[in-house]
Amino acid sequence: MSSSLSEFAQDVLAGLARSGQRELPSKYLYDDLGSALFEAITRLPEYGLTRADERLLRVHSPEIAAAMPPGAIVAELGSGSGRKTVSILDSLRARTGHKPRYYAIDLSTAALNTCARELASCAAVIPIEAAYLDGIARVAAGRDGSQPLLVLFLGSTIGNFDLSRATEFLSALRSHLSPGDALLLGADLVKPIPQMLLAYDDPTGVTAAFNRNILGRINRELGADFDLTAYEHEARYHEPVRRIEMYLRARSRQHVSIPNPGLRITIEAGETIWTESSHKFLLSDLDSIAHDSGFRPVSRWIDSEWPFAENLWSAGE
Ligand code: AVI
Repeated sequence: MSSSLSEFAQDVLAGLARSGQRELPSKYLYDDLGSALFEAITRLPEYGLTRADERLLRVHSPEIAAAMPPGAIVAELGSGSGRKTVSILDSLRARTGHKPRYYAIDLSTAALNTCARELASCAAVIPIEAAYLDGIARVAAGRDGSQPLLVLFLGSTIGNFDLSRATEFLSALRSHLSPGDALLLGADLVKPIPQMLLAYDDPTGVTAAFNRNILGRINRELGADFDLTAYEHEARYHEPVRRIEMYLRARSRQHVSIPNPGLRITIEAGETIWTESSHKFLLSDLDSIAHDSGFRPVSRWIDSEWPFAENLWSAGE
């Protein structure tokens, strides 16, 4: 594979040229348009996940802050605009009387700028433009040993990892933490199948647009000629592994050319491209993941309207 290809072009080539199920990594759903469409998804009546996460943080932030030793610093993986985090930062500030140090880790410069602006009144914001583990490694290496660290990984982003990769990722995260540190992990729970399917196939069509945009992005950035109207959005629940899977299904045979990696493919009528997995958890799954990745569950809060769990895990004594 040519080293002059961008990582995006290489991943598109690997995912679309393969025999068997074609796939595109879900991280490529989030260019500027995709991020705006995801923001719209969080406001859909059918997608209760984000509102549940925010409700839990609003109500339980004082308990979360009280569980940390005074002087704790906060690092958030995928901070986005940081909107959800305000209540935790306010609660930490109420305990000590001064603004907590808040490391916002994200790959989006635009999101980090918004975050630094919006949260300046409640925290000393330090934006870090990096991948999650690189960002945490920088935070852990740069702090003075007496500052306990609260890591936030909210919004059930952990559900977008394969289950084995989720444990691997959390173990790697744990290796950067010290006794006294903690992780607050938001995780969406299993609920009735029709409710889950509607959340990922809303009648307004926002999730369909979010999904199709990955092909639009390949057109824009790699010069491809996908006809977006030729693909149907599909959400399925794969019960044995408890995950929603998103696909794009070709309505008719499609010939596609992607000049940048130099790929020409034919996608048959009815063939699908797998674009995202979103795991839904049982409480017992979360206990196993905590154990397997070296954390100790301390507290858990569950939303009463939309089954979603906020999990506070300790990195050990
Ligand atoms: C970002 N992530 C937690 C969302 C989810 O629910 O898996 C992404 C999403 N995909 C479709 N709708 C929302």
